[in-house]
Amino acid sequence: MVNLILFGPPGSGKGTQSANIIEKYGLLHLSTGDLLRNEIEARKPLGLEAKKFMDQGQLVPDEVVIGMISSKLDENQDARGFIFDGFPRTTAQAEALDKLLALKKTSISQVLSLEVPEDELIKRLLNRGLTSGRSDDASEELVKARIVEYHNKTAPVADHYAKFGKFKKIKGDGTVESTFELLSKEIDELVSERV
Ligand code: AP5
Repeated sequence: MVNLILFGPPGSGKGTQSANIIEKYGLLHLSTGDLLRNEIEARKPLGLEAKKFMDQGQLVPDEVVIGMISSKLDENQDARGFIFDGFPRTTAQAEALDKLLALKKTSISQVLSLEVPEDELIKRLLNRGLTSGRSDDASEELVKARIVEYHNKTAPVADHYAKFGKFKKIKGDGTVESTFELLSKEIDELVSERV
């Protein structure tokens, strides 16, 4: 089983590249951002509570996202492997994920971190906000607040996995295609190690 974390700040291309990866490698995509937006669209209490944080560019409380991921892992026992997108975003979430996977006798294979300069992140997200209707892309202030939240709370997750030699940086400021090629090289190696 290959379990990947696609890591990186808002706008680094996690969602875009996850779509390519699931198509090529048949992994199951788990995006906490998408799961939360589904809850909001369905006007579920969890979604409405989460929206208060998301609209400020802040992280949703750990217990909410850990609970969502735990249910999805239980629902998808037969998956060939998972790609986690936007999770874990705090050290507490990383520790919880490690425990959940250990219960299923598996673990994270590799964290692939998309490295993109901040001015490019801001440009991409403000562009996407023009067409996507995502409320958290609506202003430069909100986009910057998300990047600050990433540096303060999410960047330490890198150290958590680096300790185990499972953290790798990938240049993410090229085209979508060239970034996917770099990711594919890494994933091909992981897949071949497991055959
Ligand atoms: P989430 O949905 O996870 O958003 P995010 O991390 O802010 O990431 P984005 O979707 O903005 O960016 P991305 O890296 O996926 O880039 P994308 O491929 O879309 O989270 C939203 C909110 O939910 C959080 O702020 C938080 O409140 C909450 N939340 C979610 N998970 C949580 C958790 N675990 N704990 C607590 N709270 C949580 O690309 C962006 C744009 O760039 C697109 O338009 C794309 O077309 C373009 N693009 C991509 N790659 C390239 C490229 N190579 N060249 C040019 N353009 C590109």
